[in-house]
Amino acid sequence: MSNSIRKWIFVLIVPLLVFGILGSVGGGAGHGVALQSANVNFDDKASMQRGAKYFQNYCSGCHSLRFSRFNRVAKDIGLNAENGFSEDDVKTLINENLIFIRDAEGKKVKTGSLMKTAYNSKAAAQAFGASVPDLSLVGRSRGADWIYSYLNGFYLDPSRPTGMNNTVFKDVGMPHVLGNLQGWQTLEHSEGGEHGVPKLTLSKPGSMTGAEYDKLTRDITNFLAYVSEPAQLSRKMYGIFTLLFLFVLFGFAYALSKEYWKDIH
Ligand code: HEC
Repeated sequence: MSNSIRKWIFVLIVPLLVFGILGSVGGGAGHGVALQSANVNFDDKASMQRGAKYFQNYCSGCHSLRFSRFNRVAKDIGLNAENGFSEDDVKTLINENLIFIRDAEGKKVKTGSLMKTAYNSKAAAQAFGASVPDLSLVGRSRGADWIYSYLNGFYLDPSRPTGMNNTVFKDVGMPHVLGNLQGWQTLEHSEGGEHGVPKLTLSKPGSMTGAEYDKLTRDITNFLAYVSEPAQLSRKMYGIFTLLFLFVLFGFAYALSKEYWKDIH
């Protein structure tokens, strides 16, 4: 193969590889229903901290995150030495904001415990006609946009036992636990069939404005998306380092190839 053909192969293949890798990092699977974009951002530690706090306050009564430990989560969402928090600070913050469950003796569980729920799953199945799922992996199984659309998609439906239905989860068993904050929505129409965006209007306002509620649900989504794959915080960084490494390696390989072939005509 002549030198110039080799050169062209390099020039064409390397960008293809790079874009291929970048594309697979950013891509997400499509869903049948029109979803709202959650725009999750794992660099926004303040949002993840609020999300964790809201989750513990509004959701952990029913849902567990059984693969996560309080202290690991706290570290990942920015409550760590790098950000100036001492070990004691972190313990206090975790105890005050995240831990509500107690052990058999009635004491708060340790900061290294798994994020279980106090709720009895059998009682839940009876109460809601559906078991309460653990949400450790929901960020992956459903995706962030789905969670965000779900938390924004509750609407009044008197035919349902809870009085509520949901645009992305038909006949859902979960009550609208954030209803007092968001207010109560009515479904105007779900025009366009499966792929249409359902139109909801607020028929009774809650204690938050629309923008405040969107921020709240985005924070919870951000947190749940992180929980489902904690390694992604570091994985993207490794990806960037790997690409940089390949780039430098390419420079050396190219120079070496030139050196080898310089006397052959
Ligand atoms: C009163 C108990 C209760 C509370 C509190 C609660 N949920 Fe649920 N949740 C349920 C039940 C029950 C289901 C299962 C619904 C079904 O299968 O019909 C569910 C389902 C879900 C699902 C769908 C999971 C899946 O993949 O099917 C998500 C996501 C979810 N809840 C998020 C939340 C979030 C976020 C909060 C806090 C804002 C919350 N839940 C608070 C009871 C609850």
